[in-house]
Amino acid sequence: MNWKSAIEHTLSTTRLNIKRFGDSFPIVSLGDGKYHLTDHTGWTEGFWSGILWLSYEYSKDPEIHAAAIQTVDSFKKRMEAEQELDHHDIGFLYSLSAKARWIVDKDEESRLLALQAADILMKRWRSVPQLFQAWGPEGDHDNGARIIIDCLMNLPLLYWATEQTGDSSYADYAKIHAEKSRRFLVRGDDSSFHTFYFDQLTGNAIRGGTAQGYQDVSTWTRGQAWGVYGFALAYRYFKEPHYLETSIRMARYFWEHLPADHVAYWDFDLPQEDSTPRDSSASAIFVCGLLELLEHLPEDDPQRALFGEAVEKSMDSLLNRYFTAGSPSEEGFLRHGSYSVRGNSSPDDFMIWGDYFFLEALLRLQKGVPGYWYEH
Ligand code: GLY
Repeated sequence: MNWKSAIEHTLSTTRLNIKRFGDSFPIVSLGDGKYHLTDHTGWTEGFWSGILWLSYEYSKDPEIHAAAIQTVDSFKKRMEAEQELDHHDIGFLYSLSAKARWIVDKDEESRLLALQAADILMKRWRSVPQLFQAWGPEGDHDNGARIIIDCLMNLPLLYWATEQTGDSSYADYAKIHAEKSRRFLVRGDDSSFHTFYFDQLTGNAIRGGTAQGYQDVSTWTRGQAWGVYGFALAYRYFKEPHYLETSIRMARYFWEHLPADHVAYWDFDLPQEDSTPRDSSASAIFVCGLLELLEHLPEDDPQRALFGEAVEKSMDSLLNRYFTAGSPSEEGFLRHGSYSVRGNSSPDDFMIWGDYFFLEALLRLQKGVPGYWYEH
């Protein structure tokens, strides 16, 4: 199947989903092929908005445009109501909704909403340990000075806020956080911790740990993929070679530890058997990270061939073994994602972020549309 046909299939699923979802937002399916719907209480609502913006950018379909605008309106209400904004995933939420609308429509109100979101994220900066606190209230016993690798994808909202306002503090803090993530979350063999704890009072490093991985010291595949993409985006903004080098190292690790069909199991350190759950969303994020990374690798870099092959083989497997290809009874694009196998939460289901990154990968490949992490 070529990229264009695949995009057309996603559009037919999305058109059905607009009717199915109404004002609600899909998160994950629960074993029945149907998305569980919510109303702005989590970290994932932006992905549906992002799918609609990507679908509109490709199709210019006014019905999809109207649905995309409706999601941004509801993100505005969430901001006004200060509903569930006290976590670091403000970046995921508002990059793919308000910032996306600014990028696509040049709508000033959406730009201001995205900047407001960046200000909320800045409130999670903790000045003693010098990091953005991922989860929980300030001073929280376990999470008060805990970073998680996923946050690298929240930082682009701050890079963008500096570009928009000329205020360097957004990117300055983001850079300190990215440096800390590189130093403590990425291990010497290029694998990664999901999370890392610091002492709230002294800032001293304590230990790595996990929330969704197999073990504290194992490598959760989605976390590794967040790192590949997040460090490539840090390189795009800061142009400091060590970010690109880190993205490359993490990408090589990811690629070298995949099973025969080139789609990740949910953790790299599991006993790998046929029955082991996959995380197709990790592979979709990985492909987007590779496509970003490839934009920065010089034309004569010998690693281009390896990463080009990784994109091709990953996408080939996702398209032929995991993609629902417009099947009207299935609400997602990618089967066999996992949210938290460890927590027995949607261990083999549709993930709305897997669908978003799969579509982002297709649009990058077909039209060079890169998603909404930076202006295009
Ligand atoms: N950022 C949360 C997750 O990847 O599950």
